[in-house]
Amino acid sequence: MQRVAASDEIRAGEMFSTQIDKTKLLLSRVDGQVYAVIDKCTHLGMPMRKGKFDGQVITCPFHGSRFDIKNGENLDWVSNIMGMNAPKWACKMIELGKKPAPLTTLTVEEKDGDVFVDL
Ligand code: FES
Repeated sequence: MQRVAASDEIRAGEMFSTQIDKTKLLLSRVDGQVYAVIDKCTHLGMPMRKGKFDGQVITCPFHGSRFDIKNGENLDWVSNIMGMNAPKWACKMIELGKKPAPLTTLTVEEKDGDVFVDL
């Protein structure tokens, strides 16, 4: 397990972005529990730290795929282009044959005021 943040840096309703070695992570607190995912959209591998976050669901800023930070589950796959509505056929083209896939989640431990993840 590697320390990634102080506990009070991970707040409900906000994404906390950090990097360990070359791995970028996103963390947040949902219902008091800290969750962590690899910050790499499973569509084209783009970072999602500038995407929208509603307190549990991350929306990729590039093509609108949505993921649950608690379990990485994909909730919506390629639904727009840079936040602009696009016809279904255009979204299909942008998928580039990629199938919906969940984000990689990490085991998190909170101890003595610090947050650790298992990379
Ligand atoms: S890179 Fe995230 S939806 Fe395309």
